Amino acid sequence: MKDTSPHAEPLFLSQRRLTAGDTEALVRFYEGLSPSAVYAFDPFGGANREAIAQHVEGVAQGRHTACVLVDEQEAIRGHAFILNVHEEAPVFGIGLHDAAQGRGWGRRMMAEIIAEADRMGVPLVTLTVCKSNHRARALYRSFGFREVRDHRGREENDSLYCERRLQHAVRREAARGV
Ligand SMILES: CC(C)(COP(=O)(O)OP(=O)(O)OC[C@H]1O[C@@H](n2cnc3c(N)ncnc32)[C@H](O)[C@@H]1OP(=O)(O)O)[C@@H](O)C(=O)NCCC(=O)NCCS
Repeated sequence: MKDTSPHAEPLFLSQRRLTAGDTEALVRFYEGLSPSAVYAFDPFGGANREAIAQHVEGVAQGRHTACVLVDEQEAIRGHAFILNVHEEAPVFGIGLHDAAQGRGWGRRMMAEIIAEADRMGVPLVTLTVCKSNHRARALYRSFGFREVRDHRGREENDSLYCERRLQHAVRREAARGV
């Protein structure tokens, strides 16, 4: 899709499933995240090749679910996932390169991943978010995540632990006519 947002250069981006051959592109994606994005989103402790390779393998084996945002050169510009979908407390995460932010892609990627979890009947999805990350908090609330309690991120009580329960979310969306 061509993005003609006026605040930055046009970017030709598309969204697709993460596939088994994506490890090196995903390492480069994590190497290219800005410091402010890393502050909010650092699921592998930096561009940790071994952890990223394990993630890609876990997706191929169906333990995790994930999608990526790619540009025309197939460089990854965004990554969204749910870790351990079949376990008790699966964890959602999302991060985009700065130039891809604020154009609706975060919402579209999150919609794909959450819809997949709903189709699979995943009863609970969890996440943590910095209290100061108002954009992410608004996005998560709009998908039915509830801010449940304080959480230690980088400092005591700087973050929130959030949950989305399938039954609640489906009832809420039905009430909104979604
Ligand atoms: C958070 C992030 C994933 C959102 O993705 P995005 O593509 O930038 O966001 P979108 O353009 O899809 O907008 C999503 C929603 O954010 C909210 N939003 C956008 N800008 C906002 C702002 N300045 N303040 C509050 N809410 C805002 C809106 O609710 C918007 O919903 P809308 O579609 O109804 O307008 C992305 O900005 C990002 O990767 N940030 C850095 C890493 C990060 O913070 N990851 C999350 C860690 S918990």
